[in-house]
Amino acid sequence: MVRKYVFGCPFETEAVTEAITPETGTPEYGTILTEKGFLFTLALEGQDAVYGLGEANRGINKRGYVYVSNCTDDPEHTENKVSLYGAHNFIIVDRKGKDTFGMFFDYPSSIRFDIGYTKSEELTVSCEEADLYLYVITGENAYDIVKQFRRIIGRSYIPPKYAFGFGQSRWGYRNAEDFRHVAEEYRKHNIPIDMVYMDIDYMQDYKDFTVNQSFPDFKAFVDEMKEKKIHLIPIIDAGVKIEEGYDVYEEGVRENMFCKREDGTDFAAAVWPGLTHFPDMLNPEARRWFGRKYKILTDAGIDGFWNDMNEPAIFFSEEGMEEVKQFLKGYLEEGQDGNAEQEKGNPFQAFKLRGKINSLANSPEDYRRFYHNVNGKKVRHDKVHNLFGYNMTRAAGEAFGEITPGKRILMFSRSSYIGMHRYGGVWMGDNKSWWSHLLLNLKMLPSLNMCGFLYTGADLGGFGADTTEDLLLRWLALGVFTPLMRNHAALGTREQECYQFGRTNDFRHVIGVRYRLLPYLYSEFMKAALHDGMYFRPLAFDYTDDDMAREVEDQLLLGNEIMIAPVYTQNAGGRYVYLPEEMMFVKFLPDGTLHKEVLEKGHHYVKVALNEVPLFIRKGKAIPVVDAAQCVDEINMETKQMLGYEGAEYDLYEDDGVSTVE
Ligand code: GLC
Repeated sequence: MVRKYVFGCPFETEAVTEAITPETGTPEYGTILTEKGFLFTLALEGQDAVYGLGEANRGINKRGYVYVSNCTDDPEHTENKVSLYGAHNFIIVDRKGKDTFGMFFDYPSSIRFDIGYTKSEELTVSCEEADLYLYVITGENAYDIVKQFRRIIGRSYIPPKYAFGFGQSRWGYRNAEDFRHVAEEYRKHNIPIDMVYMDIDYMQDYKDFTVNQSFPDFKAFVDEMKEKKIHLIPIIDAGVKIEEGYDVYEEGVRENMFCKREDGTDFAAAVWPGLTHFPDMLNPEARRWFGRKYKILTDAGIDGFWNDMNEPAIFFSEEGMEEVKQFLKGYLEEGQDGNAEQEKGNPFQAFKLRGKINSLANSPEDYRRFYHNVNGKKVRHDKVHNLFGYNMTRAAGEAFGEITPGKRILMFSRSSYIGMHRYGGVWMGDNKSWWSHLLLNLKMLPSLNMCGFLYTGADLGGFGADTTEDLLLRWLALGVFTPLMRNHAALGTREQECYQFGRTNDFRHVIGVRYRLLPYLYSEFMKAALHDGMYFRPLAFDYTDDDMAREVEDQLLLGNEIMIAPVYTQNAGGRYVYLPEEMMFVKFLPDGTLHKEVLEKGHHYVKVALNEVPLFIRKGKAIPVVDAAQCVDEINMETKQMLGYEGAEYDLYEDDGVSTVE
C-alpha cells in the first residue's frame, strides 16, 4: 500500500511516475514537524534495521551513522564521508516484531538522514524547506515494499546485451593508437572483452561532441573497432567549453540554453576544459537541445556513453577565484592590522589560506550563484541541486528515443537522483585501489537496486591509487556478477589492464567465467527490470526469519538461484560464509572444470584461490552455463548445460539484446 503526503509546495522532480491521490492526514509512523524546515522523527529499537539510500557510504544496514543526500564530486570515499555522487532518498525501516515500512522523501535539495547517529535509538530525516512529497509504503516485508516502490517510480533502464560484457577503461587513452592497442592486447591474449571506454582525452580540448585530430575519420575508426567486436564508449561531461567558434557553445549562448547568473548572464565554472557553461538540464528545451547533440556520435556508429561531472562538479567559479585573489592580496599586502610581515609567519593564517583554496571546488556558494529556467520559472540551483545529473542523463535518454528509435543504447552516469533509473545506470565514481572499497562496492549493490538502479558497478581494480595483481583478480571475481563490469583507473596510477600483470591465464579465466554465466546474469537482470525486482538482495530480504542472515553484510543473493560471497581481504586463501540453508558450493577452476560440493546450513570456511570464482546455488535450484567466449556476440547457446541440483528447471529469459523492450 502506497500513501502520498504533500508538505508545502513541492518541486516536481518527476521521480514518481504513477498518479497517486494524496492523503489528508499525516503518516502513521513517527512524528513530523514543519515549523523550522522539515523534520521527521522515529524511535528505533535495538534490533531495527534501516535499508536503502542507494549509492551511500557504509553498510547495507544504514543504522548508526548519518548520510546527507547532496550530490558531491568527492574522490575520497573514506568512512567519515556523508555525501557521495547520488541522492537516493528511499529508506526501509525493518522493525523486528512490528510492521516494516518504506519512505521516499521526494525533495530535490540537500536532505539529512540521521539513522541512530545523534541518538542511537532515533531516526531523523530533515531538510531546510518543508516543501516535499513523502511516500509511505507498507507491505509484507522489505522486498515487497521495494517492489511497490519500484512500481511507482517506473521501470528501470535496460541496456543492450553487449553491455553485460567486460570493458576496459583508463583516463589517459588519447588517440586512435591507444584504443587500438588496448583492443589488440586483449584479443591477442584471448581475454574476453566487449567495450573500450573513451575518457576525456578523445575529445578536442575536452569539448563535448568533438573528437581530437587523431581521428581524421571517426566513423571509420568506430567501424574498424566494431569489426573486432569492440564497442567504443565515449564520456560526455556536463560543462560545455567556452570557446569562440565552437558550435555547441555558440548555439547554446544564442539560444539561451545555459544556466544563468542572477543578472541574466551565462554562469561560468571551470571544469576539465577550463571555463564552461552548464546546459540548463532542468529546462525541457535545453534538455532536448543537449540530448540531440548525442546524435553527432551515434551517427558515427557509437552506441554507448557515460555521463560525467554532472553533480555538477565545479573546480572553481570566476567569482570564487576572485574572492581568493582578494584574500591573498590582503594577506600579502596588508596582513591583519596592516602588518604583512607578521601575518606571513602566522600559521593560522596559512591554514585559512589553504582552506580558502580547497573550498574553491564544489562550493555551496557557487551552487547559489546560478539559476535554472523551469518552464518559465527561475529556480536557484542549490534548491534543485540533486536533479542535475538525473536530468543530464534524461536529456540523452529522451533523445535516444528519437535519434536511435527502437534501439537500446548503453548509458550510465556518475550523479543521479531516483527517476534517473529509467534512463540509465550508474557507476560508483572515483573509488580507490583499496580492499575496503571492494567490500564497499558489494554493499552498495543491493541498496542501489532498492532505488531502481540495476545496471551498476564500480571501477574494478580501483580508480585512484595503485592497484595490485591480487586486488584486481579478487575484485574482478566480484565484477563477474555486477551488470556493469569495467576496469577503470585514474591518470598517473599504475597501469591496470589485465595484460599488464604476469598471471594472464588467470585473468582470462576469471573474465571468461563472466561470459560462461552471462545467459543467467542477463536473464536475471531482465526479470528484475521487467518485474520491479532486485537483481542483488541482502540475505535478510529472503530469509526473513533468520536472525543470522540479518547480520550478513558481505554476501548477496543474485537473482533467484544463487548467492555470492567474494573474497575481499589480501593474502586470504578463502573466507567464512554463512549459509541460511543448504546450498551447493561451486568454484570455477582455472582448468575449466568445476568444483561442486553440497554444504549444510550454517557457518563454513571455504577455500578460494586467487584464480577461482566461487558461487553458491540455492537448494533445489540450477542455472545455465555456457562455454566462455571472446565477446557477448560469440556466446554459443548450444554449449548450454545446467549446473546445480539434479532435476531443477530454470526459466531462461532471452531476446535479441538490441531492441527496446515494450
Ligand atoms: C572523473 C571521473 C573519472 C574520469 C575522470 C576524467 O574523475 O569520475 O571516471 O576518469 O573524471 O574524466
